[in-house]
Amino acid sequence: MKKKAVIFISDRGSNSIAILNAIKDGYLKNLEISMIIADNRNASGLKKAKKAGFNANFVYAGTKKSKFSERGVENYLNLIHKIKPDYIFLAGFMRIIPERIIQSVKYVLNIHPSLLPSFKGLNVQKQALDYGVKISGCTVHFVDTNVDNGPIIIQRVVPVFDNDTVEILSQRILKEEHKAYPEAIWLLINNKIGIRDRIVEIVE
Ligand code: GRF
Repeated sequence: MKKKAVIFISDRGSNSIAILNAIKDGYLKNLEISMIIADNRNASGLKKAKKAGFNANFVYAGTKKSKFSERGVENYLNLIHKIKPDYIFLAGFMRIIPERIIQSVKYVLNIHPSLLPSFKGLNVQKQALDYGVKISGCTVHFVDTNVDNGPIIIQRVVPVFDNDTVEILSQRILKEEHKAYPEAIWLLINNKIGIRDRIVEIVE
């Protein structure tokens, strides 16, 4: 039986498209994306996904930028109870996920554009450049109640060069994100992941 997932986005949605393409290409065979959900009615990724024929909808999550309102949590939980997905994939979703939503599915995954635990939160490519790191990258991790904190599934590394701008570094990392997220999902849906405390073991 196919596993079901929903993807939460807030704007551009390029990672959600990378996941959909991995399904289309046959790499993620046993996965179905039931809905792409945006907390921002003007998310460009919403328009792109709809245009490509996917089930994509704006769902009100609250007026504050990074937090769900009570009504927002109810909206999302109602939808999850209707769809009954196995997983939620966060892909550029800018709100902290309340525990009730995390507990409503088997797993919630997130992608973050730094090598965690370095540079949590926002504007992390700028944080990395300002710090002077020589490598950066992206992390796909399980989501727990702390921001950018859960067990790490996959990381991909990129070099950082002296003349990099935030835009150039972000693009270099994004290219790796589009590979890392489908890879992490592949491991998950093919039961290749074991979690011991906060250590993710890849089982053969
Ligand atoms: C990505 O860099 C992701 O790691 C971060 O937000 C950005 C979203 O990009 N969480 P997109 O919306 O998937 O294009």
